[in-house]
This record gives sequence, structure tokens and C-alpha cells, in this order.
Amino acid sequence: MENAFSDDRFLVRADIPAVDDEHEVGLRPQNLNEFLGQTLVKENLSVFIEAAKKRGEALDHLFLIGPPGLGKTTLAQITARELGVDFKVTSAPALEKPKDLAGILSTITERTVFFIDEIHRLKPAIEEMLYIAMEDYELDWIIGQGPTARTVRIPIPKFTLVGATTKAGMVSSPLISRFGIVQRFAFYDKEELKQIIKRSAKLLNVMIEDDAALLIAECSRGTPRVANRVLRRMRDFAQIYGDKSGIIRLSTVKTGLNKLQIDSMGLELYDREILLSIIKNFGGGPVGAETLAISIGESMDTLEDYYEPYLIQCGLLQRTPRGRMVTEKAYKHLGLEGKTLNENQRLLF
Ligand SMILES: Nc1ncnc2c1ncn2[C@@H]1O[C@H](COP(=O)(O)OP(=O)(O)O)[C@@H](O)[C@H]1O
Ligand SMILES: [Mg+2]
Repeated sequence: MENAFSDDRFLVRADIPAVDDEHEVGLRPQNLNEFLGQTLVKENLSVFIEAAKKRGEALDHLFLIGPPGLGKTTLAQITARELGVDFKVTSAPALEKPKDLAGILSTITERTVFFIDEIHRLKPAIEEMLYIAMEDYELDWIIGQGPTARTVRIPIPKFTLVGATTKAGMVSSPLISRFGIVQRFAFYDKEELKQIIKRSAKLLNVMIEDDAALLIAECSRGTPRVANRVLRRMRDFAQIYGDKSGIIRLSTVKTGLNKLQIDSMGLELYDREILLSIIKNFGGGPVGAETLAISIGESMDTLEDYYEPYLIQCGLLQRTPRGRMVTEKAYKHLGLEGKTLNENQRLLF
């Protein structure tokens, strides 16, 4: 569905790969030390990695849960590197037929880290095959075609499956139960993001003042991928509007965020549109996610995976059994405090 915001929402959105992401490869942390924040996840994982290495065994299967852009793919790569083993990567939507999975599994080497992104989207037949591979380290291999076709079980090396998802609720319990390690990513706090921004600035060869880094951190919706994207845009603003030094200063960031329409809580235009739609069209809620998604012209996936987690984290939106509701804080943030509702529970504008 087309709407007035169709272009602006792509500015920094963390769930959509942009051309910029190619540059991000250089920013991607290569080992656990460079992976900043997520202290608990990191501490746990480093223990499990060390122990597996000492035993010379494959690490237990690892399940990573969290919103887009928080470092799931990065951590999967780091895990392979820290273990000193091969890394193979695919995503559930890319696995169309069981033979696609079989093809990958038949080439893995001992203790390989095999990463499946968006694992909540596996097709049932593929999921079945994965169960056997994860549990028995065996593979159903089909020989021949038609009526003479038969399956043989072939052994495969012990490997580590790393599954990542933004939607843990959509992963079947038989699959979850096969992961020995489950780690949940939390949004990063502003000090952690500030460290990430300073590290990225160094890698991008750009100077940034401390207060400028902190402001970007506060407006990056707790997400490193957003922080890196905003940082690159601020580098542009510093070059064009700044004092020719190219240094990213607080004043540049203030101007830049304004131009990107990112507000003091880090909300983008579209976040505000979601809140406003609930207020204007649904009396502040509750409204079902599907209805809401239609009213703003977005998919349920995008609404639930990308927008909602941050709005909820900010205390602006609530998920209730009857649907989504905006909070008092949302009215306040949008400057609608004290507006009265008419008899139909609709805000008058
Ligand atoms: N803990 C971290 N420290 C530094 N940079 C990070 C961290 N986590 C993520 N990033 C940066 O954010 C980008 C997005 O991370 P990614 O692993 O692709 O997220 P996800 O797979 O969860 O969507 C990476 O390219 C990396 O540059
Ligand atoms: Mg990823």
C-alpha cells in the first residue's frame, strides 16, 4: 500500500538491508572483545566456547533471539571464529526443499558452525530433517526417483547449529527444545551504543565529539545497526554543513537528526505515525495488530518485529490481549497531552 511516508521510513530502518550495509562489513566486530555490550550473552557464550574448545567438542546448538540489528548474525560469525571452525550461513526462506538443506549438511566439516537466519520460517519438511541432523547427526538422503526412490541415513560430522529469530513465539517447541543454549538479546543502553559509535567512527576515520556520540546513541533505538547508519549520515552532515573540519559535533548531530526526522526518543517518522494512527483512528486502542498494520500500510512482520519492540521498550505502546494501546506517555511525547476525546472516543484534530 502506498502512503505519504513510503520513502522516509527507509532512512535508517534496521530490518531492511541497505546499500550502506556493504560498508558495515568493515564495522562488524570480529571477536568477542570487539563485540560491545550484551554483557550477559557474551559472558555466557565465552564460557561455553572455552569449555567446548577444551573438550575438543562441537559447541551445543545455540539459539539467538532478538529484534533486527542487535548483533545476532555478528555473534554467530564470532562464535565460529572463536572456536576456530568453519562457518556456513543460510536463511530459512532460502531453504525451499529438503534437498537444499541436505546439500549444505552434506558438505559440513567437523564442529562447523552452521547459521540459519530467520529460523521461524522453516518449512515443516525441512524442520523434520533438521531435527535428525541436530539430534543424531544423521541425514536422510534420497536415492533414486519415483517409485524406486529410497532414503538412506548417512552420518554427518558433529556440528553446531546457530538459529536466529526475531520471533521466538513462532518457533515450534520441538525445535527450541533441541537447542542446548538459548540467548536473548536486549536493546543496548546508551553507554554501550556510545562505545559502538566511537569504535565505528574510528574505523570510518572520522572524528566525533563525546556529546555528539552520546546524542546519536540516545536516538538509535537501542540498536547498533541503526547507530552505525545514523553515524554515517552524520558524517555526511558534518562534511556539508559543518565547519569544514569534518568533525562530528553536537550541533551537527542536532541538525542532522532534525533533518532525518528522528526525535529525542529516537523515534522515526513512521513510529510516530503508528502511535498517531492508534490515537486518531482507534481512540488510543486497543486495536488488533492486523487492523493496525493495514491502517498504516505495513506488513504485520514489520510492525511486530521492527516497530513495536522499540515502542514498547520506550513505554509508548502496550500489547494487551485485546490489542495494541498507546500509553499516557505517548500522548505526552507527541504533544497531545490534555487533548480531549469526543463521545466516539476519537481525538479531534
Ligand atoms: N555488540 C556489537 N558491537 C559492535 N557492533 C555491533 C554489535 N552488534 C551489532 N553490531 C553492528 O551492527 C550491525 C548489525 O548487526 P547484525 O549482527 O547484522 O544484527 P542482526 O543479525 O541481529 O540483525 C553489524 O554489522 C555490526 O556492525
Ligand atoms: Mg542478521
